[in-house]
Amino acid sequence: MMKIEKIIGEGSTAQVIVLDEKTVAKQFFERVSDSSIEHEYLRSKAVMDSGLPVPTIFEKVIHNGRTALLYERINGSPLTKKLSNQPWTALTLINQMAKLQVFVHDNEVSNFPYQKEILHRKIKLAQELTEAEKTLIAERLSKLPSGNSLCHGDFHPDNILLAERGPVIIDWADATQGTRLADLARTLIILRFGGLPAEMKLFKNKTVIYLRNLLAGQYLKSYRKSFHFTVDSLEKWILPVTAARLSESIPVHEKEKLVLLIRQCLKNDQYL
Ligand SMILES: Nc1ncnc2c1ncn2[C@@H]1O[C@H](COP(=O)(O)OP(=O)(O)O)[C@@H](O)[C@H]1O
Ligand SMILES: [Mg+2]
Repeated sequence: MMKIEKIIGEGSTAQVIVLDEKTVAKQFFERVSDSSIEHEYLRSKAVMDSGLPVPTIFEKVIHNGRTALLYERINGSPLTKKLSNQPWTALTLINQMAKLQVFVHDNEVSNFPYQKEILHRKIKLAQELTEAEKTLIAERLSKLPSGNSLCHGDFHPDNILLAERGPVIIDWADATQGTRLADLARTLIILRFGGLPAEMKLFKNKTVIYLRNLLAGQYLKSYRKSFHFTVDSLEKWILPVTAARLSESIPVHEKEKLVLLIRQCLKNDQYL
């Protein structure tokens, strides 16, 4: 008889299946290339040595005819779930998340891909912008600092699992060495514009926009409490980071909002 498997999570690249008490298999969709799976494997292994709260990665296997990575099973649910089920805890969660990101960035690394190279590559792929706009954005990016902080690359509330031992950061596929402010800029953009859980659709659009800006503002304030920087140095990253995000498979309505933000930045020569 065929064994029925329990799917406990699904992201944009894979389905995550429970194998036993202690192990899950992240089974990648057909369209994900073998080289990006290999990258995720190597990066997840590298962050295990950092002392950060991350799941142990075991091995790369073929499961159900598809490539999968075996990870330690984390008993906990994504921070997004708690945000929508217990919204009154939002401020505490946001502060906790910001502290965690500072903790990630405090690690200096030398064996990860370069953040600016990845951003350059993604900006070139953004179909919603003109060639002239992309050239201008790439020029601005070239002038920004490189840095050697460990950057998660996709630090958002769905990639943090709340477990008994505390919050655990998953999904290190896009980790780079770079500037913390670029990684922070991406988190802020996702908090403001990223995909919403279905139940949030019940709220009026204006309310949602207001609340999300409030959360992003609080996140920024909280991050700055642990690590100080000028708002100007962060704003410079908003433009390239937002343009790079256009190369990802995100909903059209989200892309439209990002394009508006990008054109507004270019027009006003300011970034937020
Ligand atoms: N080690 C793990 N233990 C328990 N659940 C996990 C684990 N890894 C991933 N998940 C669940 O699967 C979902 C998708 O995994 P993720 O690695 O973020 O995939 P994607 O790269 O497609 O976003 C997560 O949001 C989480 O709910
Ligand atoms: Mg994910």
